[in-house]
Amino acid sequence: MKPGLRSLLLRGIDSACQSLNKHFIFRQPAQNAHDSAINLLRLLERMPFSAPCCQRLHRLAFPKTPVDVGGVRLAQRLILAAGLIKGDGFGDEADALRAVTVEGHNIIPGWCVLPALLGPVEFGSFTRQPRLGNPGAVIWRDAEARSTQNRVGLRNPGARAAARFLAGRRGQLPAEFGINIALTPGLDDIDQQERDVLESVEFFLDSNVLPSWFTLNLSCPNTEDDPQGHQLEAETRQLCGAFIERLRARELEIPLWVKISPGLAGDQYRVLMRVFHDVGVKAVIATNTLAQPSPEDDSIQAGVGGGELHPESLEAVRQLLAEKSRKHYSVDVIACGGILDGASFRQYQSLGVKAGQYWSALVYRGPFAAAIIESELARYDHEFEAVRRESLA
Ligand SMILES: Cc1cc2nc3c(=O)[nH]c(=O)nc-3n(C[C@H](O)[C@H](O)[C@H](O)COP(=O)(O)O)c2cc1C
Repeated sequence: MKPGLRSLLLRGIDSACQSLNKHFIFRQPAQNAHDSAINLLRLLERMPFSAPCCQRLHRLAFPKTPVDVGGVRLAQRLILAAGLIKGDGFGDEADALRAVTVEGHNIIPGWCVLPALLGPVEFGSFTRQPRLGNPGAVIWRDAEARSTQNRVGLRNPGARAAARFLAGRRGQLPAEFGINIALTPGLDDIDQQERDVLESVEFFLDSNVLPSWFTLNLSCPNTEDDPQGHQLEAETRQLCGAFIERLRARELEIPLWVKISPGLAGDQYRVLMRVFHDVGVKAVIATNTLAQPSPEDDSIQAGVGGGELHPESLEAVRQLLAEKSRKHYSVDVIACGGILDGASFRQYQSLGVKAGQYWSALVYRGPFAAAIIESELARYDHEFEAVRRESLA
């Protein structure tokens, strides 16, 4: 489709989404809207024509913005962040495996139609054992600040069942996807943590589910686990080093990315960059959500994403990139936090960022968020060029 026509179409879709949000979706609690979206994904994935339709829509609406980042070449620089395609929660591994192999349930709703519609996506986070996550309402929004807040608590089917589910659909897996692995919350001993992470990775490798990249999520603000405890020098070095060694031992060229928290001290970001460079981590995703008191109970924490997170993530990215350039490190920085429109992504780009991840943009800009953001960027470039020409004339 011609860029002008695409831009017009996306403006129409954007205003339709705004009005749908205002008159319908934002009238319900965020939790209900989220649950309905997951049910819709489940329904769509029962229909054989959904994925081809989504692929067609993707080709129409999303421009190609190829990028070499974190050791992979992606057709598109805006990637769906972890936390949407992560699957159902289970209390125990046997139940999760039974749901996949005996009952044939779709335990990871969105696994098929979302990559078809959105392009590159990150699946997970998956932990070694399944988790039910936190009970009750765990997702909120602040529409004025275009923010989300959640304390899902790493609900997921566990790495073994997730790997088995994806292995059963290997032929239909997307061309570009990441798998995000999180440490089981509450493990104190570093050797136990290492075993936990490696066992999770092995399930995917043994099942021949080979993503374009793996992400190790060292930052989980919603589990009452210390979100900074795993981001210290020695722990990070051991966990990332062991992860990369395991991939090398199997002669796999899959790069490792690491996801970290906002709000760390400048020194901690500098140390982390050095560790990533030393052990061979290819990219750092900055950042996960920001722990803040939950809207329903200010004695517990819930992670803020979207507009309110943006300044924090921007600052983290600035510090990481400054260290990268000071020390000539070969670690890419992938921005994540409040990429909601062309202007917010442009702020990251002006620091030197090549690719970004988004989650809250889906809530505030709809399913075509990444395409809309790209068309806004193209419009800025066009206007900037017009002004530049005028000033030269
Ligand atoms: C409901 C929800 C669940 C999430 N779950 C995960 C997760 O399991 N693993 C992870 O690494 N990040 C998770 N995230 C964080 C997002 O991947 C992303 O880092 C964060 O929302 C910031 O991006 P945003 O400002 O575009 O929302 C989750 C976010 C939300 C809103």
